[in-house]
Amino acid sequence: MKLAVVGGGSTYTPELVDGFARLREVLPVGELVLVDPDPGRLEAVGGLARRILARQGHPARVTCTADLEAAADGADAVLLQLRVGGQAAREQDETWPLECGCVGQETTGAGGLAKALRTVPVVLDIAERVRRRNPGAWLVDFTNPVGIVTRALLSAGHRAVGLCNVAIGFQRRFAGLLGVAPEEVTLEHVGLNHLTWERSVRVGGEDVLPRLLAEHGAAIAEALRMPRSVLDRLGVVPSYYLRYFYQHDEVVRELRAKPSRAAEVAEMERQLLRMYRDPALDMKPELLAKRGGAFYSEAAVALTAALLRTGPRGPREDVQVVNTLNNGTLPFLPDDAVIEVPAAVDARGARPLPVRPLEPLFAGLVANVTAYEHLALEAALKGGRERVFRALLAHPLIGRLDRADRLTDALLAHNKEYLAWA
Ligand code: G6P
Ligand code: MN
Repeated sequence: MKLAVVGGGSTYTPELVDGFARLREVLPVGELVLVDPDPGRLEAVGGLARRILARQGHPARVTCTADLEAAADGADAVLLQLRVGGQAAREQDETWPLECGCVGQETTGAGGLAKALRTVPVVLDIAERVRRRNPGAWLVDFTNPVGIVTRALLSAGHRAVGLCNVAIGFQRRFAGLLGVAPEEVTLEHVGLNHLTWERSVRVGGEDVLPRLLAEHGAAIAEALRMPRSVLDRLGVVPSYYLRYFYQHDEVVRELRAKPSRAAEVAEMERQLLRMYRDPALDMKPELLAKRGGAFYSEAAVALTAALLRTGPRGPREDVQVVNTLNNGTLPFLPDDAVIEVPAAVDARGARPLPVRPLEPLFAGLVANVTAYEHLALEAALKGGRERVFRALLAHPLIGRLDRADRLTDALLAHNKEYLAWA
């Protein structure tokens, strides 16, 4: 099996490769191609990737290239994990919205829109070139904002599935708290990418969420940085991205008072790349655990294995939390919305499992952000100041004319070099 990773020079790649090395029974990778425009990063990351595989006696061949077409040739799946403009562009997304009193975050609010506008045209171009060379390849998208990017790919008719690590992170953490194996824990995870709630946590058919909250509510709330009472009052576990909504102004105050996450990550990336260049290093370094991408590799391996039908198969392996077309699953959303829910995954793609009717407490926000995502995609595809403004006005964290106008101006001013139409 051949896999290509676009954005292969990312400091996250050793996480992915570590997963390929550990889980070769599930996903027998024979050739791994790292695609990146930055030769220095490719050399550092590619070298470490080879050593990680060699250490585990894994036979996969690792090649590095800037040539997307050559990488796509014969690939069974192409993983997309790029970041247009790197941490420098992210730093912008995290700072200028704060000046308007709005959260500065790379996937939520105005910063998330800026990232979508920069990213969607690049990802669509890559997907088109991959399809021309190799129409059968699956696209697995981790590129943020995953909901909007996946919606762009699916509406252009690509064979694509979007992936995030929030669900697998909860599954692993809850399994640890309950003292059971992660595979025994099934989440009733619902919403949109970075806007989800865990409605139940099943072990052996029983919903253990009430027990989990009673016994470990304080620890769960602390990890989410939300008040303990929120969990009891809602009766669900929100993802930590809901903090940007539920505690918006508090988060704005916090963000204003400290260096951006992008600056932190840029510093970590410098250290990581230095470590990766050390020929004695042959495993993913501890420092990588300080990034948000924990368990990405396991989610990616499981999803790719299900799409390509490799590894031991059972009904459980084929249910994954992914981003895919709604198609009536949440009946109050359009069919072409992209939702993040458990889905049956096989060689035909991902089909959401049925979802219990969603309570208004959650459905309102989901509907609102879905409408924003629709308008964000319109703006990314067609450009134009007014389309950017409409997306911002529709966003539940913005919603006011004066703010939407100011944010539109700031977004355009900070992203001129990336937006062909601006
Ligand atoms: C989580 C999210 C990802 C996001 C990452 C940021 O993994 O699910 O979508 O990219 O956090 O992590 P970072 O270390 O870059 O802040
Ligand atoms: Mn994510």
